[in-house]
Amino acid sequence: MWIKCSIFLVLFLVLVVDNAWCQDDLKNKSQSLFKPIPDSPPQLENNPITLEKIELGKMLYFEPRLSASNLISCNTCHNLGTGGVDLQETSIGHGWQKGPRNAPTVLNAVFNDAQFWDGRAKDLKEQAKGPIQATVEMSNNPDRLVHTIKSMPEYVELFQKAFPNEKEKVTFENTVKAIEVFEATLITPDSRFDNYLNGDSNALNSKEKEGLQIFINKGCAACHNGINLGGSGYFPFGVVKNPGAEILPPGDKGRFEVTKTVSDEYVFKVPTLRNVELTMPYFHSGKVWILNEAVTVMGSSQLGISLNEREISLITAFLKTLTGKQPELEYPVLPPNTEKTPKPILNIIR
Ligand code: HEC
Ligand code: HEC
Repeated sequence: MWIKCSIFLVLFLVLVVDNAWCQDDLKNKSQSLFKPIPDSPPQLENNPITLEKIELGKMLYFEPRLSASNLISCNTCHNLGTGGVDLQETSIGHGWQKGPRNAPTVLNAVFNDAQFWDGRAKDLKEQAKGPIQATVEMSNNPDRLVHTIKSMPEYVELFQKAFPNEKEKVTFENTVKAIEVFEATLITPDSRFDNYLNGDSNALNSKEKEGLQIFINKGCAACHNGINLGGSGYFPFGVVKNPGAEILPPGDKGRFEVTKTVSDEYVFKVPTLRNVELTMPYFHSGKVWILNEAVTVMGSSQLGISLNEREISLITAFLKTLTGKQPELEYPVLPPNTEKTPKPILNIIR
């Protein structure tokens, strides 16, 4: 009797300890592949973060008068109430024009090595110059924008406070600098996965841990890693198998447009998977609305494997643990127009 009991006890202990080791192993492996989102924004190059810039940058982020129509702000396409995206296949901009690509989230974008699907802007400051001037987005120009801001004394004062040491205060450059600083504060720490990486083994349930294990073992983490589980590195969409023209329209050659190198055809920046539960539709084409389906496509296009139903649902369960604490903001009150403020340009383009 005693012997039998002891054998069971030993077996039981081996199982428990072994399981604990496996769990530790998964946590250690995860900690080496991924990093938690810090509680405060990172430093920016040549653009120190100050409270004055955050406040001004926030107003400019929500300011529709940065657009020619007075209708479109950064928040129109990167809505901070909906995960920093517009929930459109591809964005709608000036004159109701449909742009060519899906809007990626601004949340945690500060941790990306480069911006845009093709990485053509090196940081958030360079990035912000794009949409303001793009004819399919805000369709404005730097001179008109500076003229608009200078027409409102409250803004002039806020620029003076935010850029006390610069000779010219209200400039296009300072506008995008303030926006960059505000965007750097748009980070989403405290997701359950962050808590797990920070040491809380119970932050994920057993299914989510299994999903994480599959995500690592099958090779997803080879491209989706680091703080953002993406945001660094470029890969062809269709490393192993072309996902098909419906999901990968042949007209958009991705990074090829930037580098003009043949090997960069259909190469795109690995997108972040942070808050991916909120940022549908997926891919640069925005053609896939369901996360399960995006995971299935990735398995075949990037890894050449066909994931089974169970693996797909476990990976998806894991991906949903990447939803962090969303920025809570008070909507800014913007200065009133003056007589000098340019009137909106409302040409409808078809
Ligand atoms: C009309 C919709 C629209 C407006 C307005 C808009 N964006 Fe975007 N944004 C997009 C689209 C679409 C992309 C992807 C374009 C591409 O990759 O070629 C993008 C890309 C970005 C990215 C890159 C994210 C990443 O992961 O690569 C950031 C950051 C961003 N926008 C911030 C802003 C800011 C700041 C403003 C305001 C100054 C703004 N956007 C205005 C649609 C818009
Ligand atoms: C070889 C690199 C690579 C591998 C491996 C990889 N991905 Fe991706 N992933 C990408 C690229 C590049 C994109 C962007 C494709 C596009 O839209 O052009 C992407 C896009 C995604 C998206 C859509 C995100 C969005 O916001 O649009 C999801 C979800 C995703 N991957 C999950 C996974 C999962 C799960 C795995 C493993 C089964 C995986 N990926 C394996 C490179 C990779």
